[in-house]
Amino acid sequence: MSDVETDDPRPDEGDAGNVDKTRRRLLVGSTAIVGGIGVAGAAIPFVKSWNPSAKARALGAPIEVDISKLNPGEMLGPIPAWRGRPVFVIRRTPETVEQLASDNPELADPESKNEEMQPAYAKNRWRSRKPEIGVYEGLCTHLGCSPKFRGEENSFFCVCHGSVFDLAGRVFKNKPAPDNLPVPPYRFETENLIVIGEDEEHA
Ligand code: FES
Repeated sequence: MSDVETDDPRPDEGDAGNVDKTRRRLLVGSTAIVGGIGVAGAAIPFVKSWNPSAKARALGAPIEVDISKLNPGEMLGPIPAWRGRPVFVIRRTPETVEQLASDNPELADPESKNEEMQPAYAKNRWRSRKPEIGVYEGLCTHLGCSPKFRGEENSFFCVCHGSVFDLAGRVFKNKPAPDNLPVPPYRFETENLIVIGEDEEHA
């Protein structure tokens, strides 16, 4: 059973002019989006969400995602959200939360110094508003494939060229991807309801 819409809300290229500057560089073109959908990771099927129409999403409408049934160690997604880009939502285990807080010299940008890759509220070790909940755009920063969630290995893996990201979306060194996974604007409407595509700056 799945309440998550699975239609294909590919970005409206004509809407690209509205994409803010910091996100513009992440638009990797229709080829990359097709690749992302083609290698999408497993979806958690039971998470209930409410979405506006595909057209509305393509135009940038925020979506609400209910995470009440998302268990620790699981991922919801990829969700077609925020200008049609796939979004991952994960609930981390306490062990993962603790692990991500530790120094890891194998990461390329562990402190999220590249300001373009996340809002200010996600500039922390978890790259998220809450340590246990992560929200990331599911597009590899190399050529735009959609990485696979590997919960058992605490990572996202991009099968296209082998980039590896930790569960904060931070890319490991010496991989093709140059940056961490982007964090879209989002906010918590309630404890279990996330609005993706909208925050204090993007209303
Ligand atoms: S697109 Fe992900 S490693 Fe190349």
